[in-house]
Amino acid sequence: RKMCELKHDSPGEWTITGRQYIAPAYCRLTFHAPAIANQALPGQFVMAFMPSGGKHMLPRPFSIFSADRGRGEVSLFFMVKGPGTELMAGLDRGDCLKLMGPLGKGFPALPKNALLVAGGIGIAPLAFLAASAVRPGLLIYGARTAEHLVCPPDELKLPGLTVVETTEDGSRGYKGTASDLAGRFLPGKEALFACGPVQMLVELNKIRLQAGIPAWFSMEERMACGIGACLGCAVETACGYRRVCRDGPVFPAGEVFFK
Ligand code: FES
Repeated sequence: RKMCELKHDSPGEWTITGRQYIAPAYCRLTFHAPAIANQALPGQFVMAFMPSGGKHMLPRPFSIFSADRGRGEVSLFFMVKGPGTELMAGLDRGDCLKLMGPLGKGFPALPKNALLVAGGIGIAPLAFLAASAVRPGLLIYGARTAEHLVCPPDELKLPGLTVVETTEDGSRGYKGTASDLAGRFLPGKEALFACGPVQMLVELNKIRLQAGIPAWFSMEERMACGIGACLGCAVETACGYRRVCRDGPVFPAGEVFFK
């Protein structure tokens, strides 16, 4: 396979060791990137610099989907929409991509009796969180339709993890939103961990406040630098403006103001 220059300090060029395209528009890229795999924590992300053809595009943030320290591999799982992700999905085994990371603050350690909620591609950091825990508990995985419940099933076959699927149109699992279902399962849980569309987080915040349960949300924001320098990702929180890339992307739910 083509050898790439491996630098052990970020950012570095890393070789792609696997590409999985999942219909209708999702892609998983696996990289041999030991320096990232060794340090990555669930909820952290990398900035990916676009491949040739997208040289003038800004780097993009991607949640880390899995990290295998033994193999020195990390993977990213993303929706292909727009020229940048199309270029990335066009890469294949042996190609190289420049990644900087791991970046940001991830999730705290999962308590024994937690509820995890993933909406759509928000599954990426939560699958990593579940895989890192001894007893991950219950994961609600919701999407609009069955064809958007695309996480490779093997990634969620974990000891101690129960996955409950839900779709808005009822095409797989329960019929309804992930937050509807979370309302049923949250009472009695110690904490809530979630990532997904803002509307889902808004609903989850109401539910968890009613139940008096602490929560951590991974916020997805557009980022330009990823390292706290440009302030392009600033959000208003109970502690003033915070940078999603540096102070997050995971925040305690009580700090985030939802508009
Ligand atoms: Fe530049 Fe966050 S992306 S400060």
